[in-house]
Amino acid sequence: MTVLVTGVAGFIGARIASFLLEQGEEVIGVDNLNDYYSPKLKQARLALLEKSTGFRFFRLDIATEGALPEALSQYAGRITHVLHFAAQAGVRYSMDAPSAFVRSNVAGHVAVLEFARHLPKLEHVVYASSSSVYGRNTTMPFRETDRVDLPGSFYAATKRMGELTSESYNHLYGLPLTGLRLFTVYGPWGRPDMACFKFAEAIFRGEPVSLYSGDGLARDFTYVDDVVEAVLRVMGKPPESGARILNIGNNSPVLVRTLISLLGEKLGKEPKIALSNRPAADVVATWASVEAIRDLTGWIPETDLESGLEQFVRWFKRWMAA
Ligand SMILES: NC(=O)c1ccc[n+]([C@@H]2O[C@H](COP(=O)([O-])OP(=O)(O)OC[C@H]3O[C@@H](n4cnc5c(N)ncnc54)[C@H](O)[C@@H]3O)[C@@H](O)[C@H]2O)c1
Repeated sequence: MTVLVTGVAGFIGARIASFLLEQGEEVIGVDNLNDYYSPKLKQARLALLEKSTGFRFFRLDIATEGALPEALSQYAGRITHVLHFAAQAGVRYSMDAPSAFVRSNVAGHVAVLEFARHLPKLEHVVYASSSSVYGRNTTMPFRETDRVDLPGSFYAATKRMGELTSESYNHLYGLPLTGLRLFTVYGPWGRPDMACFKFAEAIFRGEPVSLYSGDGLARDFTYVDDVVEAVLRVMGKPPESGARILNIGNNSPVLVRTLISLLGEKLGKEPKIALSNRPAADVVATWASVEAIRDLTGWIPETDLESGLEQFVRWFKRWMAA
């Protein structure tokens, strides 16, 4: 297999690439290394990947017209799989910088599909969507068959646009596509703008942890290596017809308050909590039904929050000390 991974310096893209390289696959990675969060963290993830001889990296912006076909012309003939994980993430940031989301998640998504549809050996495009497309839905758990017309954030709207664009590319060109609705992924090498890292950083520094007030704030926290395992299984199963969408979540929502207490325990410090109002872009709770991916691949999430946090905190302490 020759696999193109977009967003390869990102949290999830880097982890997937590292598993593929361990299995001896050739990985072509692209990323623009933008500074939405510490480029130092992105460079450190890349440095690990660059130890493998099967890895090639191209710094480019997927949304720049012609950038992918131009940079990857010598690999296009052998790419069998595209794992599209580049995106502008961050529900609250999408209120500050909506155009960054249009560029990466709408124009960039189309550019990846355009590139993919001309690949002669292509077997499957797997791309990251998000649990945020369930938006203001309240019927739990969230199922792939639910209507998703009520995005809570502009980020969610752009991820939904990615799904709809994919649907049209499948219909028009027969492109084999699976979209993965990922539910709050956490783990080693995680994103500094996400709750797990932000809370850990505040506790570690003895600063107050900002928790949104109100009852029932919960997330279906999903361990990154469970996500990688799901992606690897789905890759090998392109849909026979139609574009497919699957949830990848832990199927076990946990109160955000519990996450904070567990992080305090693992870091050996009592968290101080500062309550604040929940921004309109943040939904109250998420919970994934995972029956569809289980029926297709046999995958079920294996890591409970306590064991996943153990791994996260071990890495986090090393990262903060570096
Ligand atoms: N982490 C989560 O909990 C989560 C949840 C739901 C969905 N997702 C989705 O999963 C995917 C990966 O998320 P992540 O957490 O690894 O985020 P990340 O920000 O760590 O990784 C995304 C990478 O894409 C790169 N990128 C962004 N725009 C680009 C562009 N125009 N051209 C080239 N590279 C670009 C960034 O530099 C970054 O390295 C994204 O599509 C995200 O929306 C993540």
